[in-house]
Amino acid sequence: MLLFVLLALGHATQGLPNVDDVTIPPWVTTTTEASRSLGPVDLDVQLPRSIKPLHYVVKLQPFINGNFSIVGYMEVDMEVLKPTSNITLHISDIITKNDTVKTEASRSLGPVDLDVQLPRSIKPLHYVVKLQPFINGNFSIVGYMEVEMEVLEPTSNITLHISDIITKNDTVKVSDQATSRGLRIKKHEYDHSRHFYIAHLRKELQKGKRYILSMEFLGYLNNKLHGFYRATYKDVYGNIRNAAATQFQPTAARKAFPCFDEPALKATFEIHLARESWMTTLSNMPIAETVPVEGQEGWMWDRYEKSVPMSTYLVAFVVSDYVHINSTENDRVDFRAGRDQVAEPLVRQLVGHDFEQRVLVVC
Ligand SMILES: *[C@@H]1O[C@H](CO)[C@@H](O)[C@H](O)[C@H]1NC(C)=O
Ligand SMILES: *[C@@H]1O[C@H](CO)[C@@H](O)[C@H](O)[C@H]1NC(C)=O
Ligand SMILES: *[C@@H]1O[C@H](CO)[C@@H](O)[C@H](O)[C@H]1NC(C)=O
Ligand SMILES: *[C@@H]1O[C@H](CO)[C@@H](O)[C@H](O)[C@H]1NC(C)=O
Ligand SMILES: *[C@@H]1O[C@H](CO)[C@@H](O)[C@H](O)[C@H]1NC(C)=O
Ligand SMILES: *[C@@H]1O[C@H](CO)[C@@H](O)[C@H](O)[C@H]1NC(C)=O
Ligand SMILES: *[C@@H]1O[C@H](CO)[C@@H](O)[C@H](O)[C@H]1NC(C)=O
Repeated sequence: MLLFVLLALGHATQGLPNVDDVTIPPWVTTTTEASRSLGPVDLDVQLPRSIKPLHYVVKLQPFINGNFSIVGYMEVDMEVLKPTSNITLHISDIITKNDTVKTEASRSLGPVDLDVQLPRSIKPLHYVVKLQPFINGNFSIVGYMEVEMEVLEPTSNITLHISDIITKNDTVKVSDQATSRGLRIKKHEYDHSRHFYIAHLRKELQKGKRYILSMEFLGYLNNKLHGFYRATYKDVYGNIRNAAATQFQPTAARKAFPCFDEPALKATFEIHLARESWMTTLSNMPIAETVPVEGQEGWMWDRYEKSVPMSTYLVAFVVSDYVHINSTENDRVDFRAGRDQVAEPLVRQLVGHDFEQRVLVVC
């Protein structure tokens, strides 16, 4: 798929005229600056960090065999990280008309409803997530989650996102990170419309201190291509093979494990995946160690290295029986291929999936 795009671009370039033959339109900058491409980034020329682009639609009609003008249309889906009253974009050597610029609340993500935001009193710092998906069985997922948090404002509740997973009230534990002393939970609350789980504590959590919340839960590998889902593909012999993968953007991480599922609430992650010994797993980071699952013959735990701080929707993992092919081109690219034909949905999901640490390409 990537190759196709590159070939197509290469083909299009052949039709372009020699640069010296082109009459340069008056709006194009012709002065050449000394190249500073590798120099330090000048902070003054950085875009404001209040807005993050998510998705572009670009439509171009170049008159290659005519006057060399290009008629263009651009649409960008953005996420607001900090309130701002301006949208700043780069533009150079192109002309736009003021009255064609339109902004609207994105239909795909819906306008941000303040009421469904998590309270800002707690910030997650580090997650440990352990999942054992029964891919070749009843599709259930046995899960454990532990999150270290910092209290920004005194509060007596801890609110997390949770959706399509079941937890047992008495597995939820909260402790003081420094002393390991447990804190009593007064009440468990589930707000299904906002996907909230709320632990109400007997005593107020203190500002500036760190606490750890942990819980066990039960999940399910759905077949709806979001959250932690299952997919199948046929091998060389026509046998159906099962695999499981994640698609968390924009808000489906909460379907795989309880978390503070908002892009701004970045944290580090340590992912553990249990697999049958003939299968393989894959996540954002390199594997740190593989150990047998105690008491379950034929099962292994893959523990992944701690990630850089990132948003929950960037967490990704795959469990499958794909063979691993090392990339020779670029060590930031991890190539994996199915033993034969890879499930279409997995390909669609993984091609070009840009993790913060590595890029996965399934082909
Ligand atoms: C360039 O050519 C196209 C097609 O003939 C025409 O529609 C367009 O207006 C021209 N653009 C300019 C800037 O002259
Ligand atoms: C646009 O907004 C950002 C953040 O709100 C601010 O830093 C920047 O100065 C603003 N730019 C202009 C040109 O007003
Ligand atoms: C677009 O807006 C800028 C800034 O207000 C103004 O200088 C320019 O003349 C406008 N262009 C058109 C075509 O109205
Ligand atoms: C699913 O299968 C596993 C392994 O056979 C078993 O341990 C687990 O209890 C089953 N889960 C459910 C919800 O039936
Ligand atoms: C939890 O605490 C926060 C901040 O202290 C508060 O805004 C919020 O309303 C509380 N939630 C519930 C359900 O009590
Ligand atoms: C967990 O707590 C909630 C809220 O208090 C309650 O409705 C539910 O029945 C409890 N579940 C169990 C299994 O005790
Ligand atoms: C891939 O690279 C790793 C680390 O460099 C190495 O241990 C492994 O043997 C390589 N695998 C293949 C199939 O070349």
